[in-house]
Amino acid sequence: MSNAPVITMDGPSATGKGTIASLVAKKIGYRLLDSGALYRVLALAACEEGIDLENGAAIARMAPGLKIEFPGNGRVSLGGRDVSGEIRTGAIDESASRVAALSEVRRVLLPVQHGFRSPPGLVAEGRDMGAVVFPGAKYKFFLTASPEIRASRRYRQLLDKGLDARLPDLLRDLRARDRRDEQRSISPLRPAKRAIGIDTSQLTIAQVVDRIMQVMQGRCQGGG
Ligand code: DC
Repeated sequence: MSNAPVITMDGPSATGKGTIASLVAKKIGYRLLDSGALYRVLALAACEEGIDLENGAAIARMAPGLKIEFPGNGRVSLGGRDVSGEIRTGAIDESASRVAALSEVRRVLLPVQHGFRSPPGLVAEGRDMGAVVFPGAKYKFFLTASPEIRASRRYRQLLDKGLDARLPDLLRDLRARDRRDEQRSISPLRPAKRAIGIDTSQLTIAQVVDRIMQVMQGRCQGGG
């Protein structure tokens, strides 16, 4: 694995993490890893192949043969086909969370994620980036927000896309996924050691980005 610097951003969904990670990566010229997209693509491919979502061994066997690419601008492709929209549906939210709880799947994705580390550096975004995948990361951030705020952000996103949604259903599903991500035995969602926590509930995306940049600049000046 390359020894290029890594910055990790972990936390539950709808904390603004994806957008924030992408803005920080752009500002400092680093590559970006959206690790959740890997679990989402595996869930989509497993559904299409008719593989049972509990069958970790079969999903792990399928994974190395998949051609998953990130051509830029947040797009994701599978075998040359643009699946950016397909992997963001409510059904895949649910399936990806199930696939992510399988130890065989997490194991097979580890070297794939390490492969994204290259000069000048990497911003890695997900749930276990700081705790498991890149434990030696230079800076680790853990973003949170209250479930109600996160559900209302997701609600607005769906309405903006012209999709139908009910806030109480979104809140219920989000809490269920949080529980599954936090309680799974392998790589549960929790802050890594040395992670700097940021509660984004009352902050704009720009304010969170500024905060992260300040932390990194402050530490750099301090010789870190
Ligand atoms: O960040 P996201 O919503 O795109 O992630 C999709 C699913 O994958 C979600 O249920 C959490 C899981 N995930 C994970 O377990 N570990 C990661 N590093 C990233 C995502």
